[in-house]
Amino acid sequence: MVTVALNRALIFLGPPGAGKGTQAKQVAKSYGVPHLSTGDMFREAVSRGTELGRRVKPIMERGELVPDDLVMKLVEERLSQPDCAQGFVFDGFPRTLAQAALLDGIFEVRGIGKPLVIDFAVSADKLLRRLTGRWTCSVGGEIYNVYDAPPKVPGVCDVDGGKLVQRADDRPEVVKERLAAYERQTKPLTDYYSRQGVLKTIDAGASVDEVSRALNAVLKGAKS
Ligand code: AP5
Repeated sequence: MVTVALNRALIFLGPPGAGKGTQAKQVAKSYGVPHLSTGDMFREAVSRGTELGRRVKPIMERGELVPDDLVMKLVEERLSQPDCAQGFVFDGFPRTLAQAALLDGIFEVRGIGKPLVIDFAVSADKLLRRLTGRWTCSVGGEIYNVYDAPPKVPGVCDVDGGKLVQRADDRPEVVKERLAAYERQTKPLTDYYSRQGVLKTIDAGASVDEVSRALNAVLKGAKS
């Protein structure tokens, strides 16, 4: 149920498996704003077999980042949709300093104020467990974890009965490259946003409910 307006841009930063998608879905639902996951957009392009999908598939399968120009084109198109007018939640974007700088430019042109950036901090051992245990609904995208958040019936989504699938990039060897790419290319964004005074860090190593409470406290505090 929508209780309050968001009216701002949220950016969820953090390593693969930090729980950005899990929390972004909840926040987007409670504020009635779109959840903009560049990873989901690319996976959809791959599953539809579009030209973009064919280009990014091998890159994602190696655990590397998609080139900035392809990411920015997708984001600009998505932000021009009317449903983004009351705010939105970016999950997994921006991921390089170049993307962050280009996004600042887009916000300026579109008259969008400074974002609130949440850094999801989690230890490396928890990330591996979360990624290798993740199963996602092939219909509605609901996220589960065989260790910490299992579905009621194995392999079946509690919400819509869809088949649960594992992501191709959650294989241990690909996870290693994704974590390395995060350290190399994405972690510097915490300094970038800290310097802008818009960064809040939360302990994302706690349970889903505890992270959710911490996140809501930050969002409420930031609004007042
Ligand atoms: P993307 O889809 O963005 O993946 P990611 O950033 O690697 O993050 P994940 O989706 O793996 O993790 P998450 O933090 O959302 O965790 P989740 O909530 O699912 O990117 C995939 C690829 O696309 C990239 O490698 C790249 O190639 C490309 N790409 C995308 N965007 C790009 C960009 N901007 N630039 C360039 N390339 C880009 O949770 C994980 C698991 O943990 C789940 O099983 C969940 O149930 C569980 N869990 C969640 N929270 C908790 C908790 N608090 N306690 C216990 N378990 C939990």
